Amino acid sequence: MSSSNSRILAVIGQGYVGLPLAMAAVEAGWVVIGIDNLAAKVARINSGISPVEDVLDAQLEAAIKSGAYKASTDYAEVANASIITICVPTPLNEQREPDLSLLESATKAIAPYVANETLVISESTSYPGTLREVIIPIIDSLKPQDSFRVYFASAPERVNPGDLIWNQKNTPRLIGAINPQSSLRALAFYRSICDATVSVSTPEVAEAAKLLENTFRLVNIALINEFTKLCSAAGINSQEVIDAASSKPYGFMPFRPGVGVGGHCIPVDPLYLSWWARQNGEAAEFVETADSINRAMPRYVGLRALGLVDPAITNPRVLLLGVAYKPGVADVRETPVKELHKYLTDQGAIVAWHDPLVFTWDGTSPVDLDWKCDVAILATNQPGMDVIRLVERGIRILDCTNSIHHLSGVSSL
Ligand SMILES: NC(=O)c1ccc[n+]([C@@H]2O[C@H](COP(=O)([O-])OP(=O)(O)OC[C@H]3O[C@@H](n4cnc5c(N)ncnc54)[C@H](O)[C@@H]3O)[C@@H](O)[C@H]2O)c1
Repeated sequence: MSSSNSRILAVIGQGYVGLPLAMAAVEAGWVVIGIDNLAAKVARINSGISPVEDVLDAQLEAAIKSGAYKASTDYAEVANASIITICVPTPLNEQREPDLSLLESATKAIAPYVANETLVISESTSYPGTLREVIIPIIDSLKPQDSFRVYFASAPERVNPGDLIWNQKNTPRLIGAINPQSSLRALAFYRSICDATVSVSTPEVAEAAKLLENTFRLVNIALINEFTKLCSAAGINSQEVIDAASSKPYGFMPFRPGVGVGGHCIPVDPLYLSWWARQNGEAAEFVETADSINRAMPRYVGLRALGLVDPAITNPRVLLLGVAYKPGVADVRETPVKELHKYLTDQGAIVAWHDPLVFTWDGTSPVDLDWKCDVAILATNQPGMDVIRLVERGIRILDCTNSIHHLSGVSSL
């Protein structure tokens, strides 16, 4: 069993959040056990293959070779840790409401092995009250001995995968703990791996702040998506308007239109907020309207693209360029391009896709850029994607990224 001052960390969930955290802790001198319930993923990680862009294979291999890191499916290993961080997914269910089943199952799995004096931290994004009302009761009811003392904090991860400037180390870390001792220990831990920490009064404040950050993005993106439709109807390029407005040195922040919002955070977290509001007898109407506007974008983009095709063609061939939800990553979770694909197919189009970072998507394989098509939609401008080849072939392109709008045959959103 561990003691509170051992430098052994257990990280539950070895994905976009958990693996970079594990590597940061190794660099700071911690010995890390990375627990994941997917045996195949654990085997790949232990063979030095990183599943996420923010951790290089070489970095992972070095950590494994030094003996400071290993991945495991065995929850009993957390018994050696003085700190356990939970970094498992918190998606939506079919009703588009919070699905904490993975968070609950991970907590139940570790609870019997939590040692005396362990600090348990949740980094997963969830609604305010999750640490206190979901995680702590499970651990308290299943921990090996009633007399064991366990510390708890919430420290929602803010990492932006693929971001070359802001990372796990230089992004200030929010920490809200259940009592002063938990707070001191959580602050000491994050000070060992982050440049700056921000202590807030309760876990609920930290949990709510994370939802506010991502909801702020959702509603601003929705505003710009709506604004873009208004401009387009009047023949004005919204991107030029956004650039013009951005010259104001205060009080304006540019957001860009696109096919919608994707990934595990922006389309999901605001719905945790609206669900939580309903639990408290309130309605997050603004958030729900923003969600609807963004979810209508794939249809709008599809309509605009089909409008570029000769109406005599009954089953136009449409090439989707970039299917990951943002440039520089292979992550297709919640990508709005899926809805775009569906809309186009429903309209009778023959649809194919190309993305240099994605090798398989929804059980289908990519085509190359020579695929014969009537129109292409630049949904995500992936690095290394040679879009110019399509321009040279004279293919009409709808550019949803504002990155090639100056080229001939290219229309802006
Ligand atoms: N991806 C991001 O950009 C990002 C940024 C900030 C916060 N978050 C939040 O962090 C949390 C994790 O997200 P992620 O993107 O790292 O997810 P992910 O899917 O990349 O990784 C999660 C890992 O947890 C594993 N897992 C699932 N259930 C488990 C269980 N019961 N026991 C052990 N392992 C389990 C999965 O196999 C997976 O490898 C979520 O709450 C998310 O909202 C994500």
